[in-house]
Amino acid sequence: MSQIVLGKVSKVFDGNVEAVCEISLEVSAGQTLVLAGPSGAGKSTLLRLIAGLETPTAGTISMDGQVVNNIEPRDRNIAMVFQHFALYPHMTVFENMGFALKMAGESKAIIRQKVIDAANMLEIEPLLKRKPAQLSGGERQRAALGKAIVRQPRVFLFDEPLSNLDPMLRAAARTQIKDILTKLNATAVYVTHDRHEAKALGDEVAILREGRLQQIGAYDEIMQKPVNEFVERFMRED
Ligand SMILES: Nc1ncnc2c1ncn2[C@@H]1O[C@H](COP(=O)(O)OP(=O)(O)O)[C@@H](O)[C@H]1O
Ligand SMILES: [Mg+2]
Repeated sequence: MSQIVLGKVSKVFDGNVEAVCEISLEVSAGQTLVLAGPSGAGKSTLLRLIAGLETPTAGTISMDGQVVNNIEPRDRNIAMVFQHFALYPHMTVFENMGFALKMAGESKAIIRQKVIDAANMLEIEPLLKRKPAQLSGGERQRAALGKAIVRQPRVFLFDEPLSNLDPMLRAAARTQIKDILTKLNATAVYVTHDRHEAKALGDEVAILREGRLQQIGAYDEIMQKPVNEFVERFMRED
């Protein structure tokens, strides 16, 4: 678990699209921050900045007190879980989950242990020999999460990982993700446009609009005291 601090982070694309504008916030170690807001609010860009996939135009991104602006994504020890599951189609679930460890030169015994531990936690042990095409959407999503877990990253980043699941599966999956993040005592940033997901997953929620932070706090606090009409409307959506 790791602490993340953003200090006045901005990202301007092509000299004029201000995707993220002077955002300052903190994610405490072991906590989940949900970035919420409508499409185009700058959620994915902010997540990609934390991951190091984008470089800030201004401001600082720190992890555990160290500025990481100039640290390559692969050296940030972060795991990203996307909407489109990053599973290799020609590999089994076991091979997918163990891939990063294999690349890192871990022994077969350790890979086996870590993959099986993660698979147990996710209740996908019976699926380890299957290939992604032989899994349902929800199972694929769990396998992708398993791939992230076995790496024991210092931070988990999620970009709308559940948005292509049907509503019932989505509700079950978000509870499961919450349980796993709690069990792992993981630090996480989770992007969604769905306030129900924000409520279920966020220790804190940050509401964004057009690249600007509107409000940050516990979901219930925001619900009770929205700072402006935009936030109030967002909190009333279905
Ligand atoms: N690579 C890019 N080049 C130019 N504009 C971009 C790029 N990525 C995102 N944007 C713009 O930045 C804004 C925020 O986008 P994004 O972070 O994807 O929002 P969200 O994830 O909240 O839907 C949008 O106006 C989008 O068009
Ligand atoms: Mg997005």
